[in-house]
Amino acid sequence: MSSSRDGFSSAFGVLAATLGSAVGLGNIWKFPYLTGSNGGAGFLLIYLLATLLVGLPVMIAEISIGRAARGDAVSAFERLRPGRGWGTIGVLGLLAALLIMAFYSEVAGWVFAYVAKAAAGDLLSSDPKLLSAAFSTLVADPASALMWQWIVLALVGGILSFGVSRGIEAVTKRLMPILFLLLVLICIRGLTLPGASAGLAFLFSPDFSKITPSVVLVAVGLAFFKLSIGMGTMVTYGSYFRAEQNIPMTAKRVMLADLTVSMLAGIAIFPAVFAFGFKPEAGPSLVFITIPAVFAGMPGGAFFMVAFFVLTAFAALGAMLSIVEVPVAVIAERFRIKRWKAALISVGVIGAVGSVAALSGSLTADWKLFGLNPFDLFDYVSSNILLPVGGILIALFVGASWGRAAWLRELSNDGALSNQALAGVLFVLVRWVSPLLIAVVMLKGLGVF
Ligand code: TRP
Repeated sequence: MSSSRDGFSSAFGVLAATLGSAVGLGNIWKFPYLTGSNGGAGFLLIYLLATLLVGLPVMIAEISIGRAARGDAVSAFERLRPGRGWGTIGVLGLLAALLIMAFYSEVAGWVFAYVAKAAAGDLLSSDPKLLSAAFSTLVADPASALMWQWIVLALVGGILSFGVSRGIEAVTKRLMPILFLLLVLICIRGLTLPGASAGLAFLFSPDFSKITPSVVLVAVGLAFFKLSIGMGTMVTYGSYFRAEQNIPMTAKRVMLADLTVSMLAGIAIFPAVFAFGFKPEAGPSLVFITIPAVFAGMPGGAFFMVAFFVLTAFAALGAMLSIVEVPVAVIAERFRIKRWKAALISVGVIGAVGSVAALSGSLTADWKLFGLNPFDLFDYVSSNILLPVGGILIALFVGASWGRAAWLRELSNDGALSNQALAGVLFVLVRWVSPLLIAVVMLKGLGVF
């Protein structure tokens, strides 16, 4: 545990980087498309419950493991409880990071491409047919799909080479507030569209007949994906937390801010979906075909559309930095090589596997497993299997191995904070509720029983 280890330099920096990890395409792309294809308000309700009962406790567990051990996603577990194989959690995390980045970098690539399209004035229309065609053309062209993905990966690798405080912290803390303001603006615009109320009803008045075990699993998977948990991102970021940071409080704030951004994205998108005649169950294309329509008829729409995609690109970047930081930290610390080399290796491997996902709209469209193309498969397996399994193992690690006393000490900063009652409740959630709930939801959702 050397004092020269890089870390976040201020309380605000910690919050901004952690929030920068949580807020990303998960809010703006995944949350709306999953809510749209899983029936709306009922799905939202389950997602909220999963965030509170499982997401928050597991997030706090992860951060505290990282900070107590001051190590990467594999070493942290080994350092706290040596010689029992818990490092496997980190290894599974590396696999999850690879699969998530394989499709995430592609979606980020679409966002970058949309910045260019919006700037060229190609998207100023509210015609569903035209906007769907613009998206399909992009996805079906192998050369541009690969090009945008690799631009994204080069950027991520480049920023990570600069290290934790200068790279990650510097980029994320400036941009979050602007994204937030722009989303508020789009919401106002969306709510004034004729027919906006159908969108709000879809988002807020639940139809419980649509909730099946597999829908519940997808909601739990989204809760994990949203809070960047189950894979070691929060262990890694926790290892850069300051000793005096209040972990439960920070996690709670990140969760609330993250939920707010998702709700704003939902309110921005669903009124427009219904007002312009899009289909809520459009899938991964939903945001890309709906958002341009929101801007099309609005004063200054061209400018705001560019701004929207630019800021979404930055949100995606903050999230990707936190995903790729997991392998970078593991490689750099365990093999004692320079960060830039570790970043290059990580991005290279991701690019190789990611290309298979990027070509899912063209060359690899027919490579199907369980009926899913590579893009959908990576997304499904990582969010709905690997992250929840990681969550169960992390909860078991804290509950059954690291133990109550050590955990309570870490959450209270060695007794400096008087949060023992809260920490006690959190321990019960982590020890019993989270692992059982996740296990049941997974087995049911996958149809095992
Ligand atoms: N939470 C981010 C988003 O919603 C994605 C993300 C970042 C992530 N780090 C992660 C997802 C770790 C799972 C695990 O866009």
